[in-house]
Amino acid sequence: MRSGVSLRVMILAALTVPIIVQSPEIFTLSVPHGPILTWLNSSVSLSCELSPLFNAEPLEVRWYRAKDFDSTAFLYKDHKIQEAPVDPRYRGRVSLTGGLERGNVSLTLERVTLEDSGEYVCYVSSDQWYERAIVLLTVNVTGSEPVLSVAEARGRGGQVNVTCSSEGWSPQPKLTWRNKEGTEIRNGQVLNTTDPQGLVSVSSWLLYSPSDSDWLSCTVSLSGEEKKETRVQPHVYRYT
Ligand SMILES: *[C@@H]1O[C@H](CO)[C@@H](O)[C@H](O)[C@H]1NC(C)=O
Ligand SMILES: *[C@@H]1O[C@H](CO)[C@@H](O)[C@H](O)[C@H]1NC(C)=O
Ligand SMILES: *[C@@H]1O[C@H](CO)[C@@H](O)[C@H](O)[C@H]1NC(C)=O
Ligand SMILES: *[C@@H]1O[C@H](CO)[C@@H](O)[C@H](O)[C@H]1NC(C)=O
Ligand SMILES: *[C@@H]1O[C@H](CO)[C@@H](O)[C@H](O)[C@H]1NC(C)=O
Repeated sequence: MRSGVSLRVMILAALTVPIIVQSPEIFTLSVPHGPILTWLNSSVSLSCELSPLFNAEPLEVRWYRAKDFDSTAFLYKDHKIQEAPVDPRYRGRVSLTGGLERGNVSLTLERVTLEDSGEYVCYVSSDQWYERAIVLLTVNVTGSEPVLSVAEARGRGGQVNVTCSSEGWSPQPKLTWRNKEGTEIRNGQVLNTTDPQGLVSVSSWLLYSPSDSDWLSCTVSLSGEEKKETRVQPHVYRYT
């Protein structure tokens, strides 16, 4: 009876507590499959864990940009965090907070900038083995309220030319036109330009008969939460 109870307790413990093993000869890394999404100026954790889980304190842990081995964001070696060679852009913004002793080598990155977006390599090496895995960070930036302008479209039977433009987005947002009823107006042409900082501006124009609807709306969005909408009443601007 008693041994039955303790056996059950042991099985339960085995199922709920991660098993930390002795340093194995070989290991792999487990990282998220998709990109990690975040916002400007936020803190984000780039997940990376040893598999099997074991104490990573005796190992070397290095995080660097995939396209640039020289740009090391973080380096832990010889049982301590190394100040050099670390890219100054990451100084004071990076840490390992997940617990090296538990095999969690996730990198916490604070005050995220647009430049931070891209591929990172999680690299872990022991005396006899090394492994690396890529983590993709995507930084979303919500741009400006769309600006709508209305111009006469000459020789178009009273139609007006409505232009919508919005700047400062990352990655490229979606631009959607809708009428008063909320029906999407299909319009293929969306022009985009990217500024030197990597922020995207979009614009689109539409020929419209003001009688079709009281107002038009232009929405620029990255996701359901990250969107900006502006409405305009085209007939107000009609000069005949
Ligand atoms: C970034 O966030 C910190 C607090 O988390 C805040 O003090 C600072 O003003 C923010 N900077 C910008 C540019 O939003
Ligand atoms: C690893 O650490 C990070 C924080 O740095 C945390 O977000 C993550 O949940 C940890 N992973 C596990 C499996 O506990
Ligand atoms: C509508 O306006 C845009 C500029 O905002 C212009 O590029 C486009 O050619 C105009 N279309 C017509 C049919 O006038
Ligand atoms: C901009 O538009 C072009 C096509 O017009 C497209 O190939 C490109 O991926 C778009 N996005 C960015 C960010 O430039
Ligand atoms: C970031 O933008 C992408 C579209 O480009 C969107 O799928 C994703 O949900 C956005 N991320 C967040 C955190 O809202």
